[in-house]
Amino acid sequence: MSATISIVGAGRLGRVLARSLHRADWKIAAVVARSQASARAAVRSIGAGYALAGISSRVLHANVILIAIPDDAIPEVAAKLARIGGDEWRGKVVLHTSGALDDSVLAPLAQRGAATGGIHPLQTFSGRSSPPLEGVVFALHGNPRAQRVARRIARAVGGISVTVRADAKAAYHAAGTFASPSLLVIIECAMRLLMDVGFSRRRAKMALLPLIRQTIANFERFGAKESWTGPVARGDFSTVARHAAALSAKPAEIQQAYAALARLSARLLANDPRGTLRHLDRVFSQQR
Ligand SMILES: NC(=O)c1ccc[n+]([C@@H]2O[C@H](COP(=O)([O-])OP(=O)(O)OC[C@H]3O[C@@H](n4cnc5c(N)ncnc54)[C@H](OP(=O)(O)O)[C@@H]3O)[C@@H](O)[C@H]2O)c1
Repeated sequence: MSATISIVGAGRLGRVLARSLHRADWKIAAVVARSQASARAAVRSIGAGYALAGISSRVLHANVILIAIPDDAIPEVAAKLARIGGDEWRGKVVLHTSGALDDSVLAPLAQRGAATGGIHPLQTFSGRSSPPLEGVVFALHGNPRAQRVARRIARAVGGISVTVRADAKAAYHAAGTFASPSLLVIIECAMRLLMDVGFSRRRAKMALLPLIRQTIANFERFGAKESWTGPVARGDFSTVARHAAALSAKPAEIQQAYAALARLSARLLANDPRGTLRHLDRVFSQQR
């Protein structure tokens, strides 16, 4: 099979993936966005393909169709694609890039004879930078033929394929959510707390980055348990109480996040989770 691919949804992920595939000698066919301006910008950024505003039968001028649109739009787009293609779907491979959805969302295309599945890179694509795909894990699932093609895509861009059971996709994606967006919001919370005590945003960032980098480096070398420091790790529960008191004037979400993360660290990292949780419960009940 010659490697020709249409990209339905040329946004943050679609552009990066298509650009890497183009560099790996895949032929790029249709590049679809909702607006013509966005589709054109995507074609410029990919360096190949033809811009389409909305779905048309030209999407079918490829053996592989990659759907990289927001999760909630996939059912409608899959149904629309099935309507325009008819029998032409037989022999095609359709992959979506959602982290949380299984391939049942592509059922209308499977019913037309397409091999369907998913390919999800465990990486963040903010649109502001183009992260390297080498060494990134790509979670695959779906029909065996779809998985073979997904594996080829991952290999072409330097990624590592891992099969994830379709029914485990949402839990798999929740893990990624802890590791990236949740991590980011924890860092932003630390930034705001420093700014509240007088740091400028620039200085707060400078202050936190060495701490964050060392934490990641320790995690990489020694794992979480060996790297765990701070008052809960030491059993300094009076310090935890001081933190909780200092946060009592802050928005409720900050107080709740602090308490939830302290409890979670006890459960996942402490040598004596039950004893640590008992101490924490005492500290946090005194705050109410
Ligand atoms: N961003 C990430 O870090 C990341 C990582 C892994 C997986 N993913 C997955 O990749 C998928 C896309 O995410 P994204 O962050 O790349 O989204 P995005 O940046 O918002 O891009 C979505 C693209 O889809 C187009 N689109 C939206 N609705 C459409 C429709 N009904 N018909 C045709 N095109 C439509 C948009 O067109 P316009 O440009 O005209 O608006 C845009 O080009 C999601 O399934 C997400 O779970 C994302």
